[in-house]
Amino acid sequence: MNEAIIKVLVLSCSLNPGSNSAKLAEAAKAYLDEQSIPTSHMDLRELDMPFCDGNAAYGHESVGKLKTVIDESDAILLAAPVYNYDLNAAAKNVIELTGSAWENKVVGLMCSAGGANSYMSPIGLANSLMFDFRSYIVPRFVYATRAAFQGGDIDGEMKERLHELVDNTVRLATGLALTR
Ligand SMILES: Cc1cc2nc3c(=O)[nH]c(=O)nc-3n(C[C@H](O)[C@H](O)[C@H](O)COP(=O)(O)O)c2cc1C
Repeated sequence: MNEAIIKVLVLSCSLNPGSNSAKLAEAAKAYLDEQSIPTSHMDLRELDMPFCDGNAAYGHESVGKLKTVIDESDAILLAAPVYNYDLNAAAKNVIELTGSAWENKVVGLMCSAGGANSYMSPIGLANSLMFDFRSYIVPRFVYATRAAFQGGDIDGEMKERLHELVDNTVRLATGLALTR
C-alpha cells in the first residue's frame, strides 16, 4: 500500500517553552519523516492565536493559516498537556477557531501529564471532535507522565507507543483515503 497518498499534520498545543508534549510532537514528526510521509508541523507557541469569540477571531491571519493546513491534511496528530483533568484550553480554543476543518479527519492524541491518574483526560476533547465534526479518533492514544521524560528524551517504551499511534493513524487515514 502506498501510504504517501495522505498528508499528516502534527499540531503541538502546549504553550510552555519546556513542554513535554511538544517533545512527543517532535518525535512523531521525526518518525513520519523517516517514512517520507508528507507532514506539516505546527506549534501554538509559534502562532499568535486569538481566543475564539465566535466572531472577528475567525478572520485572524494565524487562524486562516492553521485552518488551511488542517483542511489540507488527512490526519492530525494533536499533542497537548493535561490541565485540570482535561486537555489544555489552548487545544480546545484551536478547535473552536478551526471548527469544520476537522470534519472527517483522523485524529490521534498524544498528551503529557503530571501523573497517571488523569488518564481519561483526553476523552472530552475526543468526544467533541466525534460529535461535532465526525472525526475518526484513533482509539489508543499516548499518555505520557513526567516519568517518560526523565533523561530529557522520551523513554523507549513511550516511544514505542508513540510509533504505534503514528502507525495506526497513518493506516486509518490511508484506508479512508483509498475509499474516497
Ligand atoms: C494548570 C495546570 C493544570 C494541571 N492539571 C493536571 C492534571 O489535572 N493532571 C495531571 O496529571 N497533570 C496536570 N498538570 C501537570 C501537567 O500535565 C504536566 O506538567 C505536563 O507535562 C504539561 O505538559 P507540557 O509539558 O506539554 O506543557 C497540570 C499543570 C498545570 C500547569
